[in-house]
This record gives sequence, structure tokens and C-alpha cells, in this order.
Amino acid sequence: MNSAITHAPLSGRTALITAAGAGIGRAIALEWAARGGTVVAVDLRAEAADATALRVRELGGQAVSAGVDVTDPDTIPAMLDMALDSFGRVDALFNVAGGSLPKRVDEMADVDWYRMIDINMTSVYRCSKLVIPQFRRSGGGSIVNISSTAGLLAENRCAAYSAAKGGVLLLTKNMAMDYAADGIRVNAVCPGSTMTPRIRDYLERIPGHENMIDDLCPLRRFAEPEEIARPAIFLASDEASYITGAVLAVDGGLTAGKHFAIFDDA
Ligand SMILES: NC(=O)c1ccc[n+]([C@@H]2O[C@H](COP(=O)([O-])OP(=O)(O)OC[C@H]3O[C@@H](n4cnc5c(N)ncnc54)[C@H](O)[C@@H]3O)[C@@H](O)[C@H]2O)c1
Repeated sequence: MNSAITHAPLSGRTALITAAGAGIGRAIALEWAARGGTVVAVDLRAEAADATALRVRELGGQAVSAGVDVTDPDTIPAMLDMALDSFGRVDALFNVAGGSLPKRVDEMADVDWYRMIDINMTSVYRCSKLVIPQFRRSGGGSIVNISSTAGLLAENRCAAYSAAKGGVLLLTKNMAMDYAADGIRVNAVCPGSTMTPRIRDYLERIPGHENMIDDLCPLRRFAEPEEIARPAIFLASDEASYITGAVLAVDGGLTAGKHFAIFDDA
């Protein structure tokens, strides 16, 4: 997002975004600000969150930032305090933080299993639990959880990640039911392979994998982080006022179906 802030459908709306220091979280922060919203950017790496907030301010928006580890129950309350102190309100929570570990069940240490469940799924529970009372007090709000196509279809060597991301989808639906009467909408986005700095590093380290997307995805390319951010912001906005409990695959068709090469020439 390189253009200055020009239109403001989210004016006066504050979003709290985890993992806002890079990739999809950073893109959500910049796209939210581009629509006039204010940003609370948190990340495990405080300097990365600060850089996102600085970029928002350079573009004419308002943002604050902090180092927050979503797996640490002691540090996460600070992000709500910061939002309320800075802007007096929170309208949306984007649960973006996550991480994967390419291991089968028999290869995994228990500590790795619990860490994957914690960062990908328990963090959603934890951050949502933090903001829900505030949403209730202010008459509503919106939660968008970033799951993965790995939460819809199993991926090889991704046992804990897939289990956790799949869990996020049912947690999303449960919360949607439980809080609809409070004016709180809860939805999930399942990104396909997205060209974030982490994925770029991975592809550079393991040559030959850059073309793997051609066989997996009908659109035959990686998503840009902004292409995930925009649908996530749509779900959090008033444009999606009748959408709750939804799971939106933003995956270039990756989970639409199977491709049988044998039928191409039939
Ligand atoms: N990139 C993809 O291809 C892809 C595909 C599907 C789903 N996802 C999901 O999207 C989300 C974002 O992924 P990404 O690839 O954009 O980012 P990423 O994994 O590269 O990390 C983004 C940021 O998360 C921060 N982070 C890591 N652990 C944290 C913690 N415990 N607390 C707070 N912040 C933490 C990092 O410091 C980093 O700045 C994740 O939940 C990921 O599982 C990504």
C-alpha cells in the first residue's frame, strides 16, 4: 500500500491487529488505515509493530504499536489498554498471529504440539476473550480470524497446524452464535499460499519450490498480502453487516476442487 489515505469509510473505527509487523497482519493494518481507520498494531517483535505504525502515520493515518506475544496471557491485556487509552474504543479485532511446523505426529515433541495449538488457536480464544467484554460495553464489534486452507484440507506434515487452524474455524462459528445477540460478528478467512516475507525467504532457501503453486492453485500464483487483507477488512466492515460465522477461502481456487490432468485432452 503505497498511496496516501484518500477515502475514509472506516473513519473513527479502531482495529486491533495481532502479528501486524509483517505479512498479512501488516497489510491489514495499512489497508485499514487507507480506509480511514485507526490502527493498534501489535507483534511479538516490537520493532516490527512500530515500523507498521510508523508507515501508517507517514501515510497520514493514526496508529499506535507495542510488542505483544499472543501466547503470553500476561502481556496481551496491554494491547486493549493501549487501544482504549489512545483511541477510546475498539471496533475490530484481527487475530492474525500464527505459525506452522512441518512435522508428522510421530515426529513431534509434546512441547511443539502445544506451542502450535497455542499460537494458532488458543491465541484466538485468548485475544477474543479480552475484547468481547469491551465490544459488549460499546454495543458491538467484529472479530476476523485468519485461519488457513490448511484448516479446510489436510496438508502433509502439518498435523498440529492443520488441527489448530481447523479448530479456529469451529471456534469462529461458536463465537458467532454465542455473541450475535451482543452485536458481535465473528468470521474467518482461510488464506492460500501468500507471498509474505517468511514465504519469500523459504522459497529462496529451497530453490525449485517457486513453481509448486502452479500445480496446486487454479490461479497459478501466490496471493499478495493485500489480497488477503482486503477480504478480511470487508468482513470486519459494515459492508458485511449480515455476515457472521462465515469461513471465506481466499485461496485462488486452491480448495475449489481437484484438477485431473487426464481430462484436459479428453
Ligand atoms: N503466508 C501464508 O502463505 C499463509 C497461508 C495461510 C495462512 N496464513 C496465516 O496467516 C497468518 C499470518 O501469516 P504471515 O505469513 O502473514 O506472517 P508470518 O508468519 O510471516 O508472521 C507475521 C508476524 O507474526 C509475528 N508473530 C509471530 N509469533 C507471534 C506471537 N506469538 N505473538 C505476536 N506476533 C507474533 C511475527 O513477529 C511476524 O511479524 C498466520 O496465522 C498464518 O498461519 C499464512
